[in-house]
Amino acid sequence: MSTRWDPEQYARFASHRDRPFHDLVARVGAQDPGLVVDLGCGNGPLTVSLARRWPGARVVGVDHSPQMLAAARELDTDGLVEWVEADVATWDPAALGAAPDVVVTNATLQWVPGHEDLLPRWVEGLAPGGWFAMQVPGNLDAPSHALMREVAAAHGLAERLGPALGRIRVASPAEYVERLGVLGVDVDGWETTYQHVLDPQGEQDNPVLEWVRGTGLRPVLEALQDEGERTAFLEEYDARLRAAYPRGPVGVVFPFRRIFAVAHRR
Ligand SMILES: C[S@@+](CC[C@H](N)C(=O)[O-])C[C@H]1O[C@@H](n2cnc3c(N)ncnc32)[C@H](O)[C@@H]1O
Repeated sequence: MSTRWDPEQYARFASHRDRPFHDLVARVGAQDPGLVVDLGCGNGPLTVSLARRWPGARVVGVDHSPQMLAAARELDTDGLVEWVEADVATWDPAALGAAPDVVVTNATLQWVPGHEDLLPRWVEGLAPGGWFAMQVPGNLDAPSHALMREVAAAHGLAERLGPALGRIRVASPAEYVERLGVLGVDVDGWETTYQHVLDPQGEQDNPVLEWVRGTGLRPVLEALQDEGERTAFLEEYDARLRAAYPRGPVGVVFPFRRIFAVAHRR
């Protein structure tokens, strides 16, 4: 099931959100790939950056959000990327008519239930010498997410919000490394906790709330149809977030763990 994305809200923290993507693709050693695919390309700037890195490549961005793809098409004024609207869980790279040399998927697979079982399809579909690079957030136990669950429970909403709160799922770094490694590829796996300094200028009321509004909080707010319920939820979540992520001398420090794996087909 797709939820509605807001490209503008998502882009508010672009400089912070972009960093893991660049750290990920820095480990992809492809020199002159013919076909590059970005699964869950979002609003497009990072996919366009792949086209600029490999100007000779056909670059395809796949996403199921019409809002994100509309923003991507608008941004791609030079027509560097082919934008495809599809669910990555069912979309078959074979539809492209050639085996990809590079498949990148950044900050997307956490939204795709059972994505671990899809890894063989993407890796085995690579051209010889091809690369598969993935990054998912590893912060489901961080206060930003744990507090959503706590506030839902405190408001008697745990059951109704259960599906929305449980949507995001990731495996451990070791599991990704093992699942990829058994496919006969060389795997490079790691994790990093970024210390994002949000809103150093002090212009935002609660920058962590603004951050999660662009991603993990969306399905929860969508599930709360009633305006009163939504306001009550947000007020308490806001207050608890402020306590968990207080403003300090440099801004609001928002630690964010991310999990990376890059597989290279021999
Ligand atoms: C957090 S954004 C990441 C976008 C981009 N990769 C980036 O790093 O900025 C997640 C994206 O995954 C897309 N997405 C989530 N589940 C998807 C699915 N099953 N099929 C296709 N796209 C999906 C969303 O529409 C959204 O654009």
